[in-house]
Amino acid sequence: MDKCTIVLLGATGDLAKRKLIPALYTLVANGKLKDFLFVGAAFEDVTVDEMLDQSLPFIEKGKIKSWELLKKRTVYQQLDFSYEEGFEYLTKLIEKLEKQYNLTGNRLVYCATSSDFFCLITKHLVKAGIIQKKKQEEKSWNRIIYEKPFGYDVASAHKINKCIAQLLYEHQIFRIDHYLTKELVSNIALVRFTNCVFEPLWNNRFIDNVQIILSEKICVEGRGIYYDKYGAILDVMQNHMLELLALIAMEMPKRLTGEFIRQERAKVLKDVNAVDLCMGQYEGYRESQGVDPESNTETFAMAYLRINNPRWSGVPFYLKTGKCLDKKETVIYMKFKKVECLLTKGCPQESNYLTIQIAPDAGFSLSLNVKKPGRLYEVVPVDMEFYHSCLWEEKSAEAYEVLFEEVIHGEQSVSVRFDEIEYAWKVIDELKKIDVPVYPYEPGSIGPFECDIFAKKHGMRWLS
Ligand code: BG6
Repeated sequence: MDKCTIVLLGATGDLAKRKLIPALYTLVANGKLKDFLFVGAAFEDVTVDEMLDQSLPFIEKGKIKSWELLKKRTVYQQLDFSYEEGFEYLTKLIEKLEKQYNLTGNRLVYCATSSDFFCLITKHLVKAGIIQKKKQEEKSWNRIIYEKPFGYDVASAHKINKCIAQLLYEHQIFRIDHYLTKELVSNIALVRFTNCVFEPLWNNRFIDNVQIILSEKICVEGRGIYYDKYGAILDVMQNHMLELLALIAMEMPKRLTGEFIRQERAKVLKDVNAVDLCMGQYEGYRESQGVDPESNTETFAMAYLRINNPRWSGVPFYLKTGKCLDKKETVIYMKFKKVECLLTKGCPQESNYLTIQIAPDAGFSLSLNVKKPGRLYEVVPVDMEFYHSCLWEEKSAEAYEVLFEEVIHGEQSVSVRFDEIEYAWKVIDELKKIDVPVYPYEPGSIGPFECDIFAKKHGMRWLS
């Protein structure tokens, strides 16, 4: 990997603590990131040790051997994003340390902050010279990552994009969605388009409905201030879940590479419409730190979407997500239509479905109806399965590790193009206009009882 300086803005936040610092550490420990400077910056007054050590519980025990390597090349700077002066000071610090470590000016800034700051931060970074507008052919590169959600509706997303596009070239901008670097997610397009068995069936003649589920056991944890402003729909549906939908539903790209895939993802998102919605809030949410005691923010949502194009017309796409539920699972089901039953009795109850499992384990399985051994025809469902952990001992790299690697390599496919974000916001803005109550549900349950009725109303059954 190129020599570079990584500046993490929001270095004391939850994402930095749980995911970003552990991902950087793993890249250092694996020897992938050798020559680097890591600068953490945030509003809080902490020491460099305090910033790094907050991540220790999120790194697998027994893997902490290269901690000193990371520490040696890390500094922390207290920074108020609203003031220009702090950024000027940061530039001086970076320049001094880059000289000391013989770094060449490749810089990556990660904005793990609220999108309210994206425009202002970018202005300050450019003015202070931490990031410069650089053409691709220049010797060193400067790139910037914006964490999702990018804005809070279509209008705010446009405003941010307009601001940053005036300051930097598109090839320097990475609006990211870590789901796009998850092993199984990057596998979806590959499996679809390199096996001829799927494509002929991947349409409204054979698919009855598609279910995309992102369930979480964790509750809002320490993220009350952020979460209460966004809620489940903006936090994960607008980005991770609609990107999954786009990968499942897009047309075949000309090539399986970044720009062609982004083109097809955007095209399909443009045709998505919201049909119905059911929402919930877990009991006790309002007592969480940082949450308004009268909050009506949803921590659970079920959405019914349609895609108005010839391939998918008439096929419901159901999305379900929630926090504080009974299990952690990210999964997509492609439910096939029922075939005419030729048996005189004991017809199969369930039609076939393809399961694309993203978490906790990554893999695919196909449910089939087969004959139970014996003289008479009796049908039983069985699964044909493939799981990564069974075939490959090595655990797939964490999404954020892949993300850092790809951005350092300048790979644009991990970045979401602005039109994708814009179309996704249009769907969400339409969905949020559906006026429905927020029903309470018990922590550790499967969500509000009223949302079961929603499923019945639409004649569907969740497969998990
Ligand atoms: C993040 C959301 O983007 O994704 C979190 O902000 C959510 O609320 C997380 O918990 C889920 O990601 P993963 O990789 O754990 O499935």
